[in-house]
Amino acid sequence: MKLAARTGRIVPSPTLSITATAKAMAAQGIDIIDFASGEPDFDTPDSVKVAAEAAIRAGFTKYTASSGIDELRQAIVEKLEAEQGLCYEKSQILVSCGAKHTLYNLAEALFEAGDEVIIPSPFWVSYQDQVLLNDATPVLLETREADGYAISRPMLEARVTSRTKAIIINSPCNPTGAIYDRAILQDIAEVALRRDFVIISDEIYEKILYDGVRHISIATLGPEVAARTVVVNGVSKAYAMTGWRIGYAAGPKELITAMANIQSQSTSNPSSISQKAAVAALRGGDAFTRQMVVEFDRRRRLMVERLNKIPGVSCRMPAGAFYAFPNVAGVFGRRHVQGPIASAADLAAYLLKEARVAVVPGEPFGSPSHIRLSYATSMDSVTRGLDRMQAALGTLR
Ligand SMILES: Cc1ncc(COP(=O)(O)O)c(C=O)c1O
Repeated sequence: MKLAARTGRIVPSPTLSITATAKAMAAQGIDIIDFASGEPDFDTPDSVKVAAEAAIRAGFTKYTASSGIDELRQAIVEKLEAEQGLCYEKSQILVSCGAKHTLYNLAEALFEAGDEVIIPSPFWVSYQDQVLLNDATPVLLETREADGYAISRPMLEARVTSRTKAIIINSPCNPTGAIYDRAILQDIAEVALRRDFVIISDEIYEKILYDGVRHISIATLGPEVAARTVVVNGVSKAYAMTGWRIGYAAGPKELITAMANIQSQSTSNPSSISQKAAVAALRGGDAFTRQMVVEFDRRRRLMVERLNKIPGVSCRMPAGAFYAFPNVAGVFGRRHVQGPIASAADLAAYLLKEARVAVVPGEPFGSPSHIRLSYATSMDSVTRGLDRMQAALGTLR
């Protein structure tokens, strides 16, 4: 069978496949510590579950408006206004099956052959493949660990061409945990305005911030910036609702309408029940999220401290999200009985086999000197996982 050429341009999501391997090993009774999965270990809040149960019992189990129910789009409008001071009409909001689907609709609506899309690197694994699937060219903007993964205006300008269609920013960032301060956002906005490209702002980790830092959405930098920005968000991370699959976009009406048309011809509405649950999450206040972040913060400190004690490993303190992203280049070249560790992928394979610890190698994030560990897991798992990693790395020669 001859498949469409685009299928050959992409690979399956590496984070999902490592998580699946770890889960399969656990199902076989192997004692695996899973630092690979990108989801909160907390249960979805009860108030959200109650709303979903009520929706089922009320028979709210049929197709809804393809772009999402009015009540949810209104809750999103109110959230953006209350938290960021951003003003959107309901027609500027599209609800989709998770932020990943939101980003995919966006890529389909916006990108075509010849377009270039700037992606600061390290980057979340799906950005690049979604650009490729839609015939456009990803242009990586490499940032440096030593600079806290910051972007400077000259770095950005050096990547912009007459073909630049968009930039995809992600603050707080998966995998680095870095955040963009106002000055960086201002630089990006000014270059986007002058060179006329779209800003895609993935803000899915906006509420998972530490040390009193507050989230700034680039869309708040002025009406002319908002007019060329699509804010992408969802309930997966902030409300421990990864399985419910609700994400959304807020942006220029013309673009949102095009995305909505694509959705109406592909998936139709996201689950009716999940939409009701998302209304409850967005209207339920942030007490649950704040509590979760307090716990993530304890684990973050422990994980980073422990990683920095392992010879050959160095780890910056992430400012947001729930991942540590240690540099492991100091381990490369060391050997175990089966051979040398030559890459982050080798190290991840070694840790899975020898330490029974699942981590994601940095290569698919555009960062071959790093591995990504999620601390969205219990303190006990953090301690035991780091004990095992330290022991396994200690046997390398
Ligand atoms: C940076 C980033 N964006 C988007 C998503 C997609 O989230 P969801 O589709 O669960 O809403 C993820 C999930 O891991 C992510 O890390």
